[in-house]
Amino acid sequence: MSETFTLGLFYTVIRPEEKWILAAAEERGIPVERFHDEAVTFPLVRNGFQADLVLNRSVSHSRSLYALRFFEHYGVPTVNRYEVVALCGDKVLASLRLEEAGVPTPRTVVALTPEAALKALDEIGYPAVLKPPIGSWGRLMAKVDDAEEAEQIIEHKSALGSPNHSIFYVQEYIEKPERDLRAFVVGDEIAAAMYRRSKDWRTNAARGAVSEAMSPTPEMREIVLRAAAAVGGGVLAVDLMESPEGLVVHEVNPTPEFRALSGATGIDVAAKVVDYVAEMARR
Ligand SMILES: Nc1ncnc2c1ncn2[C@@H]1O[C@H](COP(=O)(O)OP(=O)(O)O)[C@@H](O)[C@H]1O
Ligand SMILES: [Mg+2]
Repeated sequence: MSETFTLGLFYTVIRPEEKWILAAAEERGIPVERFHDEAVTFPLVRNGFQADLVLNRSVSHSRSLYALRFFEHYGVPTVNRYEVVALCGDKVLASLRLEEAGVPTPRTVVALTPEAALKALDEIGYPAVLKPPIGSWGRLMAKVDDAEEAEQIIEHKSALGSPNHSIFYVQEYIEKPERDLRAFVVGDEIAAAMYRRSKDWRTNAARGAVSEAMSPTPEMREIVLRAAAAVGGGVLAVDLMESPEGLVVHEVNPTPEFRALSGATGIDVAAKVVDYVAEMARR
């Protein structure tokens, strides 16, 4: 089947994920126009490109946001939508939305100054987790065991002087088994799911967690699809932890990697993403 639309790929580097996406597009006869996020320029008035729909694969949150807003402005639909990425890329906004939608999520308190951060930590209780509102791969997060440690970490964060480290996202520490759960959502479906096992309390694949295929329980399926819908849907990785009280969603990733997931499950996630994008383009 040959397609009548051109897929735009907005990317930073061609990782295995992007290779698989390009291969899936080629198999389906879908022409791809590449937009390298380090090179592309965005005039206020659209000029001279082909893409009818853009798939965002940039690893940069700020580049993604501006680019998606420009494509929207040019009348080009994107996966994911600007609003979805803006929401999911900011842990504060994402937590608010999950709470509003009644999706179980860890207890979280946000503070806007170092002084208030200490209070927030007291309100949450120790151990607690401190996260930068914007970030990924578990970077610059801290597990805080007591008030003394809290003061030191907050002092360090304040010294960084960056806006992202001047807002304090404080979360209860979930006593989970040595793993978390990830479900990769494409539209209305869970395309694949896995455990990520690690001795490190941060079970990110980027930190060396071991991936293992799993099939979602009905409870997990329900929570995952509710979380995805709550943030506006699309292609999303919903991350959950097994808390003593049941499953909680701690993150919805708007531009997820899936190399580990494809490896662990044998599922061609890229093909599912491309089929979803093609389906959207036909509408
Ligand atoms: N509140 C928490 N309690 C225990 N572990 C957590 C908590 N929050 C995050 N983690 C662990 O840290 C990892 C990274 O946290 P996450 O919020 O997903 O940040 P990132 O965007 O950097 O991936 C999670 O996959 C999980 O294993
Ligand atoms: Mg995460």
